[in-house]
Amino acid sequence: MSHAAITLRPALASDSLGIAAMSRDYIEYGLAWRYDAARVRRLLVRRDVSLVAACDRSALVGFAAMEFADERAHLVLMAVLPGHRRRGIGRHMLDWLLESARVAGIESVHLELRAGNDAARRFYRVQGFGETILVPRYYGGTESALRMVRVLRPPLPANLAWQPPQHWA
Ligand SMILES: CC(C)(COP(=O)(O)OP(=O)(O)OC[C@H]1O[C@@H](n2cnc3c(N)ncnc32)[C@H](O)[C@@H]1OP(=O)(O)O)[C@@H](O)C(=O)NCCC(=O)NCCS
Repeated sequence: MSHAAITLRPALASDSLGIAAMSRDYIEYGLAWRYDAARVRRLLVRRDVSLVAACDRSALVGFAAMEFADERAHLVLMAVLPGHRRRGIGRHMLDWLLESARVAGIESVHLELRAGNDAARRFYRVQGFGETILVPRYYGGTESALRMVRVLRPPLPANLAWQPPQHWA
């Protein structure tokens, strides 16, 4: 496979089965399958979620989903097919979403991953994420989650000149 064959685009409803299968096999393995095709389709229509698909020609080989709030974004899910890993696809999808977050004025991007997922942990560290806390029994009441964060900009200064509206007095 050459890098030139890989393209990124917003995910479509027709990707939902493939995304759900990747989530089941490479993210949620051994746990209850939460991101089935119906749930992925619900993510796709949300205006506060961006879902990017990586394709080798027309075949889906990776995806990543980010949820945007006012100041924070949450990287919900991300996976690349095993045969396509270590080719920069994960980094390119994350760059797409981080750039969207920057443009949206997001202060920090958060994620959690299975504490034993060393590959993803290394991947996120290389992409500038720092580890924050371990959350015991986060997954299925048994497996711990590791939370990570990447700060995109300093917090806005508190508006010290702010006064309550008149009718509050
Ligand atoms: C994590 C994941 C998305 C990374 O995707 P990827 O396309 O292989 O990542 P990239 O090729 O962009 O890697 C970029 C850099 O991250 C680091 N990295 C990625 N995978 C790594 C691994 N297994 N071990 C060590 N470092 C790794 C490397 O520094 C790599 O650069 P290099 O290949 O030049 O050394 C992929 O491994 C995956 O799908 N894992 C299963 C699902 C999962 O764990 N998702 C994350 C939790 S939701």
